[in-house]
Amino acid sequence: MVPSQFENELTVQTHTEAGTMNEFHAAYEAAVEDVRAELGDTHPLWIDGEAVETDETFTVRNPGDADQVVGEFAAGDETNVDAAVAAASTAFDEWKATSIEERTTIFRDAADRIADRKYEIAAMMAFENGKNRNEAMAEVDEAIDFLRYYSHELEKSDGYGGDVREPTPGQRCVSDLQPYGVFGIVAPFNFPFAILVGMTTGALITGNTAVVKPASTTPLVAHTFFDILQEAGLPDGVANLVTGGGRDVGQPMIEHENVAGFAFTGSRRVGLKIQETFDELDKRGPVIAELGGKNPVIVSDEADISKAVSGVKYGAFSFSGQKCSATSRVYVHEDVAEEFTEQLIEETKGLAVGQPETQETVVSPLIDEGAIERYDDICESAAADGTVECGGSHVERSDLPEGRYVEPTVVTGLSHDHALATDEHFLPFVTVHPVSDLDEAITKSNDSDYALCAGLFTEDDAEVDTWFDRIEAGMCYVNREQSATTGALVEAQPFGGWKYSGTTGKFAGGPWYLQQFMRQQTRTVVG
Ligand code: SER
Repeated sequence: MVPSQFENELTVQTHTEAGTMNEFHAAYEAAVEDVRAELGDTHPLWIDGEAVETDETFTVRNPGDADQVVGEFAAGDETNVDAAVAAASTAFDEWKATSIEERTTIFRDAADRIADRKYEIAAMMAFENGKNRNEAMAEVDEAIDFLRYYSHELEKSDGYGGDVREPTPGQRCVSDLQPYGVFGIVAPFNFPFAILVGMTTGALITGNTAVVKPASTTPLVAHTFFDILQEAGLPDGVANLVTGGGRDVGQPMIEHENVAGFAFTGSRRVGLKIQETFDELDKRGPVIAELGGKNPVIVSDEADISKAVSGVKYGAFSFSGQKCSATSRVYVHEDVAEEFTEQLIEETKGLAVGQPETQETVVSPLIDEGAIERYDDICESAAADGTVECGGSHVERSDLPEGRYVEPTVVTGLSHDHALATDEHFLPFVTVHPVSDLDEAITKSNDSDYALCAGLFTEDDAEVDTWFDRIEAGMCYVNREQSATTGALVEAQPFGGWKYSGTTGKFAGGPWYLQQFMRQQTRTVVG
């Protein structure tokens, strides 16, 4: 094993140490009450270090309790985007000239401030996107790790600077990486803190400036990150926050002539649209995009079935499957298919569906009405063309507010090329397909436009080798019973995809991530 130079700085992403669990739960529950008492404020845009009010606002509600208003948020438009890009452009020259030390000091300080407010930020997510406590705490830890890891990488590489060379007498050359200018950043609802923090830090720490748009459902934790950046000493205009809709804010950001590059995590449709727009407008800067998955898991006849059931259950259903990394199709050897499927159904029925702040909850509410409609549609289609083994309905219980709680759903009897087994749904929904051998399982796993995460359960080392040789995916996990395909750790498991799951093949939380936000220049002086 290669020891990590960084691991002393890594945040522990599990909270299971003996003696600390009670403190952990008490601190989280206190934070939930504090956050609950503060909900409902109105939040402006944040441009050039100033709060900017808008005529229109939009309301964010708790996805699990429609009566609860999380806050009112400024609805930005093209004029606001213009002002934000102008501020970021003006700030660029001074910011790119700051030293590595100045930048890493700010981002490490931001990491410490987030660590101090970890429970509060995790509690905000319970209200804003319905994330349960363990997952929300892990997400805050991931954000802290991104900040510290990217600081570490920038220092380790000396800011991607180059040594001076003298290839012939009198000729002095240096080649290094430099920032592009202004980046547009659009973040998703499902990791509204970690992914927003990771992409924004990638752009800024490398000397770019940024305009950031959070998902319209999750602007609250983005505001918290901006407060923290300001407290940590980020100069005005370096990062600008414009909340609002995709058409009003996202589109003008993509089209703006002074937005040089883009970092996006979200749907394949939108990600490809950003790339197409860049191409049409002949923008030469990078589109660094992570675009979803349809993540296959193989269960071999050599698998430990209990491990496989556990891995698929948590991979498919935690946070209601609203993750690009969620397990969504299972290829199980026909000799163990019955045993595996029966156990999966049994354990899936036992998963706790509930409000995110409740300690036991694994399956939390869906993000919006659109998600509910898609859930209803795919369950109807699954019942028509296959067998819904468990789930398929809304959860209506007296202890739950009327909302968006649905049952985790296991479906069999669909062909591997059925739309339900090929399209990304972002819902608690998994299809199970018997196969005759590993070869068929791998061929079917790879028969997808997506190639983000993949899992294998087997106790046979030769099968592991074959799978690693042939599987097409950015993230490959073997025998991971805590989750077959989700939950990558910064540095140890850099996260990204192949094919239509990503645009650059360089992964978040890994050693080549930051370089994507920069371009090379070779300078030669003679005499
Ligand atoms: N990084 C997350 C995971 O591994 C997905 O964005 O699940």
